Amino acid sequence: MGKNDRLLPAEITGSLGQVVIGRQIIVLESTRSTNDFLRQMLTAELAEGIIVFAEEQTAGRGQRANQWHSAPHQGLWFSILLRPEIPVAESARLTTWAAEAVAETIRAQLHLAPAIKPPNDVYMGSRKVCGVLVETVAGCGPHFAAIAGIGVNVNQPLEAFPAELQERAGSLAMAAGRAIDRREFAVALIRELDRSYAANF
Ligand code: BTN
Repeated sequence: MGKNDRLLPAEITGSLGQVVIGRQIIVLESTRSTNDFLRQMLTAELAEGIIVFAEEQTAGRGQRANQWHSAPHQGLWFSILLRPEIPVAESARLTTWAAEAVAETIRAQLHLAPAIKPPNDVYMGSRKVCGVLVETVAGCGPHFAAIAGIGVNVNQPLEAFPAELQERAGSLAMAAGRAIDRREFAVALIRELDRSYAANF
């Protein structure tokens, strides 16, 4: 896998058909954090549903100012612009929505049994395979905007994680015992995010 399974925006949008989440896809080779990149692009006119992926993040961020380790080409590191018509006080629902969509995609695509550790983590057994970081922005359109950042560890072997994470981090490939097609998984995940967003927001 690695560089041969690069994310290609045209291929992803071509596989998706008519969607809101994923209507426009940007893939960066490297950026500090996709949440920060999307925040910098944000204008009142930018349409809901745009997704920014990065093959590598050099300063990926997690909850509570934690660093999010984002190995090049081995995971899915992306942020989605949302404009949900809900009170900002309910924005935590977006975190639950994203974690549930990741868990559902793991079940449906890989026939594995993930668990959600509320509010924002997806685990395979004792190992965290996904985290969600939703950040809200006021004053950028009629409702608030939210940037939903999702990090999924897809193909890392255990050694790819920093030593201090090796006890509790894991990847889908480690859980499945085989390499995962990141592009296929990305398309399935975006479809599930789009379907469940339309149903819930
Ligand atoms: C956590 O588990 O603490 C949340 C991790 C969120 C990581 C994703 S990767 C894409 C997006 N960009 C970031 O800098 N963070 C989120």
